[in-house]
Amino acid sequence: MKGKQAAGYRAVDWVEDGMTIGLGTGSTAYWAIQRIGERVKEGLKIRTVATSKASEKLARELNIPLFSAADIPWIDLTIDGADEVDPQMNLIKGGGGALFREKMVALQSDRLIVVADDAKEISVLGTFKLPIEVVPFASEWTFRNLQKRYDVPLEFRRQEEGIYITDNGNYIIDAAFGRIDDPKKLAAELKSITGVVDHGLFVEMAETTVIGHEDGTVSIRHKS
Ligand code: 5RP
Repeated sequence: MKGKQAAGYRAVDWVEDGMTIGLGTGSTAYWAIQRIGERVKEGLKIRTVATSKASEKLARELNIPLFSAADIPWIDLTIDGADEVDPQMNLIKGGGGALFREKMVALQSDRLIVVADDAKEISVLGTFKLPIEVVPFASEWTFRNLQKRYDVPLEFRRQEEGIYITDNGNYIIDAAFGRIDDPKKLAAELKSITGVVDHGLFVEMAETTVIGHEDGTVSIRHKS
């Protein structure tokens, strides 16, 4: 918990007056949004766009100026969490189900700062099940196509009330690859499958990682 808070708070040091900020999703991005809320209260002038309905709600509660994507031509800086971070700063995201909006917002941003605790640092991506967002129509076909192609355990994400539905009205298939040796290749392949909206591989997108430790310190890396 302390590591997540430290990372979230530190990333907000890069936020400046006049910027447009992408608000990430999850329990680490939560701390960044809290800190942005504090700074807005102190007079910081920014515009923001959120990567999920949950982050939108949090931003509203904190009186952070929130805009819809249609009103934001470009984003200066997005601060978002990750489920896995590899040594090249490639990511698996989407544990919280927001991967599609997170990717849209990150791609529209000059800079993506990833905030995470040190448990998220791994040597090879793939231990965390890769979330794949799929269109509900014929999703069983998409499921079988993925199964045939990759032969790895797959499951539709579920919640208490039944199948999990994303903010975009889609389903998520979680894929247990175990080890993803070539994330760039897999990312491109998955994108080419009809029925797949997007996936949680964020390859060569992060510019900075802020990794928080339990003692409240952070380690910062920038893309070389
Ligand atoms: C949501 C995400 C989150 O950023 C990711 O799951 C990390 O979450 P947390 O900071 O709670 O560990 O991708 O879709």
